Amino acid sequence: MILSALYQGRTRTPARTSSASRPTTLELIEPLYKKAPHLTLYTPLCKVRDVLMGCNYLVSTNGRRLSSVVAYGDDSIELTWSVPERAETLRNLIVQVKNRVPTLTFLPVMETGRTKWNEELSLQVLGRCFRAIYEGPKPGPVSVPAGLRILTVDPEKDLPTLADLMNSAYPSLPRFIDAERLAVAARAPSYYADGWFFLCDETLARPIGAAVCGYCGETDEGFIDWVQVLPRFRGRGLGVILAREAIRRLAAAGCITVSGSLDAPFAVGELYADCGFGQFRQWSILGQPAVARAPVSGATA
Ligand SMILES: CC(C)(COP(=O)(O)OP(=O)(O)OC[C@H]1O[C@@H](n2cnc3c(N)ncnc32)[C@H](O)[C@@H]1OP(=O)(O)O)[C@@H](O)C(=O)NCCC(=O)NCCS
Repeated sequence: MILSALYQGRTRTPARTSSASRPTTLELIEPLYKKAPHLTLYTPLCKVRDVLMGCNYLVSTNGRRLSSVVAYGDDSIELTWSVPERAETLRNLIVQVKNRVPTLTFLPVMETGRTKWNEELSLQVLGRCFRAIYEGPKPGPVSVPAGLRILTVDPEKDLPTLADLMNSAYPSLPRFIDAERLAVAARAPSYYADGWFFLCDETLARPIGAAVCGYCGETDEGFIDWVQVLPRFRGRGLGVILAREAIRRLAAAGCITVSGSLDAPFAVGELYADCGFGQFRQWSILGQPAVARAPVSGATA
């Protein structure tokens, strides 16, 4: 049985007239996400919850089980999700959204099996992301080369230094983050104080790398958000040290996930595979050709 229905997100129906008796689609997604966090969403659920709450949804259910979901706003699809055998249904839901929202700008889509979504929907691939889950053993202490030290970020005084380091790690991009934005992240429910740390060079008396990790209590998920090493210190194994230390600091979580880019120059999938991440799932950010749009920043790590 396929039931296709339009569900309103919670922020659009403050009176909750219908949602009192019927769960919102976000509430239906949450238990699924808890069972298989690495198979759903290209970024942790807690980071996109507010966006999803403001979305409309088209969903397909297989009896009582949710099998495909499209969450969309006024001009973009924010999320698609499907169990592999329902890829065809998901494609039909996307077409329905395109009919409802003619000004659609981009569509994040999880690749399902071998389906070439971009070809079937006449869309371009704007970016490819991965999402993976840590499968390695419980990590022990991480050995750090002499002269380097790991220090936890103090959000009271270190945020400008952290912002500078993060910006310097992407010399080809314009400044993309500042201390104010980091302060907002440090107040978010997913902020995990132990997960923000520097790799410091004691001789230079300054950080040369950093990691930012979060934790979502509702899904018991620890996630690696950012790992950076300054350009001139790369290729010496420091990225792996930061990733291992992040895993160690997140080890108490029910699962540890990471998402990131598969496109050069930020293709970091191999680094995480080397560190014990597996079950890689690929997402593609799809967009309509020849439409002016803001750069896609789908990858979180
Ligand atoms: C990604 C990054 C942290 C790696 O730092 P690093 O200190 O050079 O990493 P390591 O020396 O530990 O590299 C270990 C392995 O990771 C992989 N790797 C590292 N950087 C990579 C890149 N840019 N592309 C593909 N693979 C990469 C390689 O497999 C490498 O193994 P090898 O040395 O045997 O080839 C660093 O390049 C960086 O800060 N990049 C910009 C920020 C970024 O993209 N961060 C990741 C997402 S937040």
